[in-house]
Amino acid sequence: MVAQVIDGKAFAAKVRAQVADQVAKLKEENGITPGLAVVLVGEDPASQVYVRSKGKQTVEVGMNSYEHKLDVDTSEDDLLALIDKLNNDPAVHGILVQLPLPKHLNEDLVINSIDPAKDVDGFHISNVGLLGTGQKSMVPCTPLGCLMMLRDHHGSLSGMDAVVIGRSNIVGKPMAQLLLGDSCTVTIAHSRTKDLPDVVRRADIVVAAVGRPEMVPGDWIKEGATVIDVGINRIERDGKNKLVGDVDYASAAERAGAITPVPGGVGPMTIACLLANTLTACCRANSLPEPEGLTA
Ligand code: GUN
Repeated sequence: MVAQVIDGKAFAAKVRAQVADQVAKLKEENGITPGLAVVLVGEDPASQVYVRSKGKQTVEVGMNSYEHKLDVDTSEDDLLALIDKLNNDPAVHGILVQLPLPKHLNEDLVINSIDPAKDVDGFHISNVGLLGTGQKSMVPCTPLGCLMMLRDHHGSLSGMDAVVIGRSNIVGKPMAQLLLGDSCTVTIAHSRTKDLPDVVRRADIVVAAVGRPEMVPGDWIKEGATVIDVGINRIERDGKNKLVGDVDYASAAERAGAITPVPGGVGPMTIACLLANTLTACCRANSLPEPEGLTA
């Protein structure tokens, strides 16, 4: 079987267009412009790239973007004071604190100081609990993007065997909750899993989110399975820098029914879902109907 390529770049463009339409409507009919505040502490080069990209795309869909760039040695008190100000600012509907934070800052404390209704990352402990109990929450962006692509490809996911490789708070755990919410039978695999190849071979859906280049070879993939590759790993091959996923794309594409490429698969969906979450938060804050198809 030659896999269908799931084009995340095109899908993300569609999501952004839907968000832009809804934002235009909100402005025209309600006089409201959704606003996203992004806080960056320090000068980590990868984080700077992400934050710039988020700001640019926020403005492109018609939202207000508020960037707060703080010095690497900003105190916890000063950061918490900024978050408190953003929590109380009615023009700000979403708040994102870019991770990782410098070592002297307590990441859990900082994330849990964000108003859960404005926590567009879905990392606040309240949102984690709401998602785990099947209640309305803010859903982490990357898993939400994966879910949207899976629903688009399959329609219903009910009864499918899904394996999530990786147990991070940002991707693995919320991804498993979302798949369970859509009535999959879910296995979370990780570095201590016994016989990982066997676990993966039983799955109709494989979500790989471990951050290890090409660790899943094609012969682990069940014929016709759907493969969602969350990994974005920079490697050097034949003297050139290259981006590869957690799945060996060439061999997996020979067995899978559908597969996301790297780059151009899950990656572009993350910021698209951040914008979708900001729109959702804005609608909820104003007691307006939520946008259809952009939430879990
Ligand atoms: N750093 C890497 N990924 C993410 C993300 O999804 N959200 C935040 N806040 N920081 C990140």
